[in-house]
Amino acid sequence: MKLMTNKEKLRGKISVPGDKSMSHRSIMFGALAEGKTVIKHFLRADDCLSTIAAFRKLGVKIEDNGSEIIVHGKGVGGLKAPSAGLDIGNSGTTIRLMMGILAGRPFDSVLFGDASIAKRPMNRVMLPLREMGARLEGRDGTEFAPIAITGGANLRAIEYTMPVASAQVKSAIIFAALQAEGETVIHEKEKTRDHTEHMIRQFGGEIDLDGLTIKVRGGQTFKGQEMTVPGDVSSAAFFIVAASILPGSEIELSHVGLNPTRTGIFDVLEEMGGKVEVRDASRSTGKLAGNLLVRSSELKGITIGGEIIPRLIDELPIIALLATQAEGVTVIKDAAELKVKETNRIDAVASELNKMGADITPTDDGMVIRGKTPLHGAKVTSYGDHRIGMMLQIAALLVSDGEVELEQAEAVSVSYPAFFEDLASLLS
Ligand code: S3P
Repeated sequence: MKLMTNKEKLRGKISVPGDKSMSHRSIMFGALAEGKTVIKHFLRADDCLSTIAAFRKLGVKIEDNGSEIIVHGKGVGGLKAPSAGLDIGNSGTTIRLMMGILAGRPFDSVLFGDASIAKRPMNRVMLPLREMGARLEGRDGTEFAPIAITGGANLRAIEYTMPVASAQVKSAIIFAALQAEGETVIHEKEKTRDHTEHMIRQFGGEIDLDGLTIKVRGGQTFKGQEMTVPGDVSSAAFFIVAASILPGSEIELSHVGLNPTRTGIFDVLEEMGGKVEVRDASRSTGKLAGNLLVRSSELKGITIGGEIIPRLIDELPIIALLATQAEGVTVIKDAAELKVKETNRIDAVASELNKMGADITPTDDGMVIRGKTPLHGAKVTSYGDHRIGMMLQIAALLVSDGEVELEQAEAVSVSYPAFFEDLASLLS
């Protein structure tokens, strides 16, 4: 696909699609709850549609009336044995969280996905679940998908110290813990997104949160809820960066989720000299959201590492582009997790942006970016990774000589099917 190039500024107001992490979890809790769950501003993108499809195969009635998703939950005991394997597409969140849900069910199941999913590490989930008594096996004795789950295991509570900072691993353990005998205690390495914990409370359950320690009891029941998913800050990030680096830009993004475990990009922008203002922040159905006003500005390089990394892990590709347009050196460190995302995002960012004229050196746990560099036309690829594809489109806006041809542009629909249209509306 030929990308939009040589653009001057972004102007106007849009509403970004619903949060991906929360959309997945809204279906999961809706399915595990008793009664009707009504979800507004649900993200209708490939990943979350994979979650809906998987729960339908587990016998859960899920309707989409065009404005809302309605899940008719019958409790965790209402899930039925699927007649075939569950295809979760490209979605790491779906496969890992469902491992926790299915590990405690009385029936057998198989989870599989695309070529990218088949390469992503699953021991981080399988090992703690096996400690709880679950029976899961990867393909040919490896840790990789397809994952076969043997039902009928009696799960027991564990105390577990997480070796990786991962909300997917934490959430998988929590879903298994909800079906286990006793109280499970999880110690996080670093604070990661806490949507699962919040939703347990929202659906009428209990969870004890104390710093990096989580305690959750098995055998709880949930009640269906009405909820509105706020805009995804990870999707907003592409426009925030575009408006920051294209001189003369001024945009407003409405009702963006502002959960503090997700807002690392605002801290980074503030330190780099960016101009992001939060307006009308409010708590709707327990979720903090607000309108963002973003203006272009001069930026300087900084060092990004430590506890902030899980708070901006998905934004690092677009932050790397931001850094190519900042004066001086930006160092991203402590981010080795980037290597096991939808693709190796350290290599993908460095190779594709360097093809366009950036100066990025990949490292073992991040990258070193020297700015400010003009960008030029090139033939690039998303490697089938939605966030790499969207980042490259934002990079292309800066290109005044030559064309930018993006291979595997369709990957964008994994999290943001209307991305190119929304961006075009801010450029007109
Ligand atoms: C997610 C957790 C993160 C994030 C992913 C969504 C979630 O993954 O990168 O896009 O919804 O729990 P990890 O748990 O692998 O860090």
